[in-house]
Amino acid sequence: MKIAILPGDGIGPEIMAEAVKVLHALDLKFEAETAPVGGAAYDAHGHPLPDATLKLAQAADAVLFGAVGDWKYDRLERALRPEQAILGLRKHLGLFANFRPAICYEQLTQASSLKPELVAGLDILIIRELTGDIYFGQPRGRRTAVDGHFPGTDEAFDTMRYSRPEIERIAHVAFQAARRRGRKVTSVDKANVLETFQFWKDVVTDVHAQYPDVQLEHLYVDNAAMQLVRAPKAFDVIVTGNLFGDILSDEAAMLTGSIGMLPSASLDQRNKGLYEPSHGSAPDIAGQGVANPLATILSAAMMLRFSLDQPEAADRIESAVKAVLAAGLRTGDIWSEGTQKVGTSAMGGAVVAALTGKTITKR
Ligand code: IPM
Ligand code: MG
Repeated sequence: MKIAILPGDGIGPEIMAEAVKVLHALDLKFEAETAPVGGAAYDAHGHPLPDATLKLAQAADAVLFGAVGDWKYDRLERALRPEQAILGLRKHLGLFANFRPAICYEQLTQASSLKPELVAGLDILIIRELTGDIYFGQPRGRRTAVDGHFPGTDEAFDTMRYSRPEIERIAHVAFQAARRRGRKVTSVDKANVLETFQFWKDVVTDVHAQYPDVQLEHLYVDNAAMQLVRAPKAFDVIVTGNLFGDILSDEAAMLTGSIGMLPSASLDQRNKGLYEPSHGSAPDIAGQGVANPLATILSAAMMLRFSLDQPEAADRIESAVKAVLAAGLRTGDIWSEGTQKVGTSAMGGAVVAALTGKTITKR
């Protein structure tokens, strides 16, 4: 097993160190190679996704990714900004299926901004299409308007588009995932306004004919955003396009108390994947040793399950994380009265201790 480790910027290196610590504590044989990505790669090599980093990611069986971005790169031209690293990896590795689970851990119902009874036991899965839509659609750019409300002035434009095969393959992923869970798929669109998403809805409906055992419902994205905070437990699997999925997955993450808890997987046609926490690089707290490493540690578990065929090792990590939470350890983002606040490396250390059967002490 060959794993590419791409820590990135901000808190990326700190949380990645903990995930690597956890991987080493399992007795698995794997090779791990680290490479710079994002702003760190721009500083070192002049590009957020250097060739060597892309090649390493392509050659690996799985990629474990930290986070990228920092305000100090905001003025760079778009092609050199840190975000281009993750967009480039998604595109070059063909990672079209993004899994973003939102699970509310029993001990963290208090950390949610919603009432505990609305989120207790929450377990939903957002499946976001990741290589199409307005994120990658061409043409895009700036020009002088020839029509519209202000002809002759500067304007900018992007292109929202989806092809039938792109929608079909993500719909299959969603229906198959639903079969392993609650057998319900909510497809989110904006068919009342957008041509692209009327087509999305039609194609998802066509694919559904092959999955009569799975229930399909359609929601407009504005309504979906509302239902997510009104009755989130009514959802099982949500499938949607790249842009809507970006927005709804952040909203869903917050239902669980902290985005610092949520892993994600981005898979290609053959289940090779990139695994990353759902949160960003949090430059405001970088270097302080206070970031929550659990999303990255849980991403490593997802990697073992989906791409490396090590489901028992994945289970072990997930149980260890639950044990650490049950023991009352919390990083600042999930801390509440009566629990013990710990830093990044103490949290990682506690997961390792739980894995290796040592008792977890509150210190
Ligand atoms: C995400 C992020 C990225 C996205 C950014 C960093 C390009 O917000 O993974 O959700 O918009 O997809
Ligand atoms: Mg996002």
